[in-house]
Amino acid sequence: MSGPYIIVIGNQKGGTGKSTTAMHLIVSLLRHGHAVGAIDLDARQGTLSRYLENRRDYAQRRQLALEHPELRAVHASELESRTDAIDEERRDLAAALHDLSACEYIVIDTPGADSTLSRLGHTYADTLITPMNDSFVDLDLLAVVDPDTLQVVRPSRYSEMVWQQKQARAVHNGRPIDWIVIRNRIASLASRNQRNVGQVLKALAGRIGFRSAPGFGERVIFRELFLKGLTLLDLRENGADVPLTLSHVAARQEVRTLLAAIGFTEVPDEPETRQPPPDEAPAAPAPGLTAPPGAELLVAAGR
Ligand SMILES: Nc1ncnc2c1ncn2[C@@H]1O[C@H](COP(=O)(O)OP(=O)(O)OP(=O)(O)O)[C@@H](O)[C@H]1O
Ligand SMILES: [Mg+2]
Repeated sequence: MSGPYIIVIGNQKGGTGKSTTAMHLIVSLLRHGHAVGAIDLDARQGTLSRYLENRRDYAQRRQLALEHPELRAVHASELESRTDAIDEERRDLAAALHDLSACEYIVIDTPGADSTLSRLGHTYADTLITPMNDSFVDLDLLAVVDPDTLQVVRPSRYSEMVWQQKQARAVHNGRPIDWIVIRNRIASLASRNQRNVGQVLKALAGRIGFRSAPGFGERVIFRELFLKGLTLLDLRENGADVPLTLSHVAARQEVRTLLAAIGFTEVPDEPETRQPPPDEAPAAPAPGLTAPPGAELLVAAGR
């Protein structure tokens, strides 16, 4: 079977960095020359759609030759009957995917809450990326943890949902989902909390079937880029009026490190400036996801 490689960004918790991660991934793939489609399943909030709209406006105002993906937004159905609503969402998402079928990659951003549309989106994932803040509040969606021993008691809601989608997908087309959990907004000073979260994630990874990868440090720049529709990867463009500081250089490196961990390997052009927390095992690329991105990935995915 051939078709786009689909990356879903999901976590049923608000504000963990899904749309920010989606945007950086999209722009990175575009800058590698790939045809990229984007689907906003959180159309009511519309962060990804707005981010991309801001990008078009900014590029036009400043006469910048920025890359843009093909965007589709899919709304949650408002039909009263649950069955009809699910059918409508199924049809709308299938139509969006069909529209983007000429793309090499499709990145799907999902809402920060459980919904039938979010669940449906997850079933399409070749790779699922789950950003979480470095805290036990976010970890709670992945697992119930004993407060005294920090032992994992049992997987919790979101993990169970992903597990079900994995099963559904195995029946549907037999290909596994490569599930990657990334830690976002990592504090620059290592803390006991950071170590503890890392330890629990490590214990959990094998048990519920994900691998972890380093994410982004806590940086104000991520909040500032939205209005201009820019990512850290655009800051060297002529005419982008955001100065490239040392902190931004470090942040760009974090984006590259994440891409490499996912399997989109590229040669880093900036020195590593942030060491991952000591407890964070370097993520092994998923089997078949190796450099360079593009054709190899599609072949590896059996397409
Ligand atoms: N590494 C970071 N450092 C600082 N701010 C960040 C970082 N990552 C994301 N943010 C900011 O956190 C806020 C939430 O990020 P984002 O919108 O990407 O999360 P989300 O998971 O998509 O949220 P929602 O569930 O509401 O859709 C935004 O203001 C974003 O700029
Ligand atoms: Mg979002």
